[in-house]
Amino acid sequence: MSDELRAAAALERAFGRTGALAFSVSPLGGVVAVLTAAKGARAVIALQGAQVLSYVPASGERDVLWCSPRSRLGTGKPVRGGVPICWPWFGAHADAAAKRPAHGFVRAAKWSVTGAGFETETTSLTFEYEPSMDQLAMIGAQLTARLRVTLGAALDIELETINSGTETFTLSQALHTYLAVGDIGRVRIHGMEGLTYYDQLTGRDVVQSGPIAIEQETDRIYRDTAGHAVTIDDASLGRSIRISSAGSASIVIWNPWREKAMRLGDMEPEGYRTMLCAESANVAPNNTVRVEPGSTHTMACRITSETN
Ligand code: BG6
Repeated sequence: MSDELRAAAALERAFGRTGALAFSVSPLGGVVAVLTAAKGARAVIALQGAQVLSYVPASGERDVLWCSPRSRLGTGKPVRGGVPICWPWFGAHADAAAKRPAHGFVRAAKWSVTGAGFETETTSLTFEYEPSMDQLAMIGAQLTARLRVTLGAALDIELETINSGTETFTLSQALHTYLAVGDIGRVRIHGMEGLTYYDQLTGRDVVQSGPIAIEQETDRIYRDTAGHAVTIDDASLGRSIRISSAGSASIVIWNPWREKAMRLGDMEPEGYRTMLCAESANVAPNNTVRVEPGSTHTMACRITSETN
């Protein structure tokens, strides 16, 4: 029996529940939890990165999340797809000379399963990540990350940042959600009308007028978005995906388009046509979070989908 099969079997014994929670080795190569909730909603979460890889609502429609067919678990690289967790910083680290990984250090790391919950309508699973001594020294604070995923009529993801030390930590982060769309050219994104975004490609601030259409490489950080839900209308699949957030003051909208997809190497060149990232986030410089000693900050997103 492989180490992974053994690990899946041990988790199954500790947390499994017939018809609600099972652990297995994914075709992508690592251990995953498979959650089932009332009326047949289903989610798959990898232990690597505590990364939700798949969310199929009870209606049985197509997966709401996109995952690159070129990604594999256990390669030391994050999976491109699902909901990677960017923590405890988003994007490039402020100290460029230090050569720290983009989007923090938990995306490709192994998280621990710490609890499971079973209600009539929902199934939930909790993961924790304790940074290594080196990582703690790197960030200069005693942080723990906890992720709770609850599957029911919606997919709820809550990311807690627990500061159990004596130093205040300035946090940036994202639930880097890759959504599956039918054809990016026929997608319209609503909810950010009138907000200002920082265009990462031009370095300019722009005010959003009307819904967003994606017609080229797009990399935008919408600021001060608290209270704004994002609705992604997908004309070709005939569905609307809605993401509402709490404890999040930024929304990132990203699509690499063809050339960048080719440069990334873990996407098929045409993969950009069927995905869109809409990320609940807190991004520097305006929307970082000060996590004081002894306190916990929670950022959460709720993803729902309706077919027309
Ligand atoms: C987005 C950023 O959130 O993530 C982009 O705004 C970045 O700038 C993208 O290119 C993907 O990042 P990565 O590290 O997963 O290739």
